[in-house]
Amino acid sequence: MTTNTVELGDYCHYMLKEIYEQPGAARNTLEGRLSGNHLVAKTFDFEAEEVFKFITNVQVIACGSSYHAGLIARNWMEELGGVAASVEVASEFRNRSHVVPENCLIITISQSGETADTLAALKYAREIGYQHSLCICNVAESSLTRESDIVLLTHAGPEISVASTKAFTTQLIALLLVVIALGRHNALAAEEEERIVRQLRSLPAKISEALQLDARITEIAEKFSNKRHTLFVGRGIHYPVAMEGALKLKEISYIHAEAFPAGELKHGPLAMVDSEMPVIAVAPNDELLKKLKSTMQQVRTRGGELIVFADPHAGFEGADGLTVIKAAPIDDIIAPIIFTIPLQLLAYRIALIKGTDVDNPRNLVKSVTVE
Ligand code: G6P
Repeated sequence: MTTNTVELGDYCHYMLKEIYEQPGAARNTLEGRLSGNHLVAKTFDFEAEEVFKFITNVQVIACGSSYHAGLIARNWMEELGGVAASVEVASEFRNRSHVVPENCLIITISQSGETADTLAALKYAREIGYQHSLCICNVAESSLTRESDIVLLTHAGPEISVASTKAFTTQLIALLLVVIALGRHNALAAEEEERIVRQLRSLPAKISEALQLDARITEIAEKFSNKRHTLFVGRGIHYPVAMEGALKLKEISYIHAEAFPAGELKHGPLAMVDSEMPVIAVAPNDELLKKLKSTMQQVRTRGGELIVFADPHAGFEGADGLTVIKAAPIDDIIAPIIFTIPLQLLAYRIALIKGTDVDNPRNLVKSVTVE
């Protein structure tokens, strides 16, 4: 760690600095790991390849934002990698018995590598028969890297703000590298690997584009300054993106924020929606868009203020009670990474208006080393 990397420079808060560092952090995560349109085999050590070739299942364990990264990766693992994937919060993983699948890789995800629940869950997994472990971690010399068979560092640089930003997006990038490594031995065709790598390479530029939404987000943050509750909705792989957006908002603004899969709104949460409850939707231009639109209509007819982060091709136009923030066109695989950026900015800009201690929110710590 150099002194420079943890200096605030021109930024008011580490969180904002770390949000803006994401194009460079993405570059660092990919550095030396891609060649042409392929993953470099030595991204993982030789023994890792020996393990990867018979892995057909993964079990992800993590906490907080790292858990949300795991939920997003589950979709990639199954859709692209052809590997069955389960994800569980580390504190719960130990609270029950497990049927240990054959050929299963435990994947732990942690910025700090010191989260007590994650370490304890890994230990428990070993005790009950899981044989192989891989960790995705931002700290090279940490308890988690020491305890894991295979280590993939995110190289995001030191993250000071309690609310995770660049650590989260680089975890997602690292997870895509794992998807390729596992997928090669399963369902991933060479041209699919090329497609993932092309999209990975475009990330620094695409994240920079997403950061340009900051001015617009600063304007709409005002809408939230006197609100006490919010809902975040998404579908498919963008549901955990919505969960991460809600976590960011509650962590640093103390506004009550919950995320729901869009299709679940009608099964309960819709009852809470009124003009005092803004609903934030993540709307990529994917096959689930039509269903998402109908959910959004349900919100509007109940007088709810809707803020939609949308792909420009998703066909949304602003209207009374509907604010649309259009991102640049987004490729499908990396969309969850790109849609995370405006949600981080939204939480930050709202917290700034509320005057909270953004980098050190009340009752929270950066690394939870007790169970
Ligand atoms: C704390 C932090 C979160 C983080 C979580 C997991 O709650 O405030 O930002 O996501 O721990 O931390 P880890 O270091 O394991 O990723």
